[in-house]
Amino acid sequence: MSCIEARSISKSYDGILAVDSIDLSVPTGKIFGFLGPNGAGKTTTIKLLTTLVPPTGGTIRILGMDAISNPLEVRKRIGVVLQQPSYEPTLSVEKSIEKYAMMWNVDKKLQKDRMEDLLLAFDLQDIRKKKNDDLSIGHRRRVQVAREFVHDMDLLFLDEPTVGLDPSARRSLLDYIKKRVREGLTIFFTTHILEEAEYLCDEIAIINKGKIIAVDTPAELKNKFGREKTIKIHIDTIRKDLSVLLQGIRDYQIDYNSGTTITIQSHSSENILLKILKILTVNKIPIEDLSVVPTSLEEIFLTMVKNSNVSSD
Ligand SMILES: Nc1ncnc2c1ncn2[C@@H]1O[C@H](COP(=O)(O)OP(=O)(O)O)[C@@H](O)[C@H]1O
Ligand SMILES: [Mg+2]
Repeated sequence: MSCIEARSISKSYDGILAVDSIDLSVPTGKIFGFLGPNGAGKTTTIKLLTTLVPPTGGTIRILGMDAISNPLEVRKRIGVVLQQPSYEPTLSVEKSIEKYAMMWNVDKKLQKDRMEDLLLAFDLQDIRKKKNDDLSIGHRRRVQVAREFVHDMDLLFLDEPTVGLDPSARRSLLDYIKKRVREGLTIFFTTHILEEAEYLCDEIAIINKGKIIAVDTPAELKNKFGREKTIKIHIDTIRKDLSVLLQGIRDYQIDYNSGTTITIQSHSSENILLKILKILTVNKIPIEDLSVVPTSLEEIFLTMVKNSNVSSD
């Protein structure tokens, strides 16, 4: 069953389309990553899906319910952590979580257990009595994310939850999310950091300028767009005559550093490699090192965003 089904949803602010007729289909029990640069429309999409702002057009079904006609029913069964910081300055970490549990009517015993679990999972035990006002930005963000997990829900929206966290807190959060999804939760997660999406998500949609430009599993995205390989040939000595020797060969670049590096970046890099190796052998130029690097998802992402900017300008 689909947890989120959105068809042609749009949102315009003063005539500008922040979200431009997008479709989304998120299966139950998965982590869906929504990836895009700043201003792409990620937060607006989350606000539409969580019934916080009404769409300009389109239909939205959340957990089988029509979100536009039943916003209150939808809100009872979802959680959302927005990008904006939200905290009560005078409340301690514990009290912040407790207040959320009370708002959501969580049973007292359950609340106690969950409190300890969350303090542990988010590494907040040592600062449990500290007031939000006295916390670092990273700690406040951890509290903001942790408290959302205190209530029961079927679907959770997280808008760039790792911003402001140090690498180890970031990793713990991602691993905690994975654990909760194994236990049955569905997560819609936005980020502008590709490695996060790749580490966490079953499926990724890439959004740019309000439009979805690709939806796939991380592996398929790599497969479809990542055929291009980067090959580096390192030669011990600096050969200034190399470009003359390699005349007629395309898609390579020469750098002179400690020696000479030839970088080949092409869909047919193996072919080009063979030609270059032949020329090096004929000219008795010894190769110090040779490496093949599959183009990373990061590069694919940047290329896709760049291409979609060019085609829309
Ligand atoms: N309340 C608003 N009023 C006017 N414009 C807005 C509002 N919220 C977002 N926008 C605009 O919509 C676009 C998408 O913003 P947003 O959804 O916040 O992107 P992201 O979360 O991907 O950074 C941006 O151009 C932004 O300036
Ligand atoms: Mg945003």
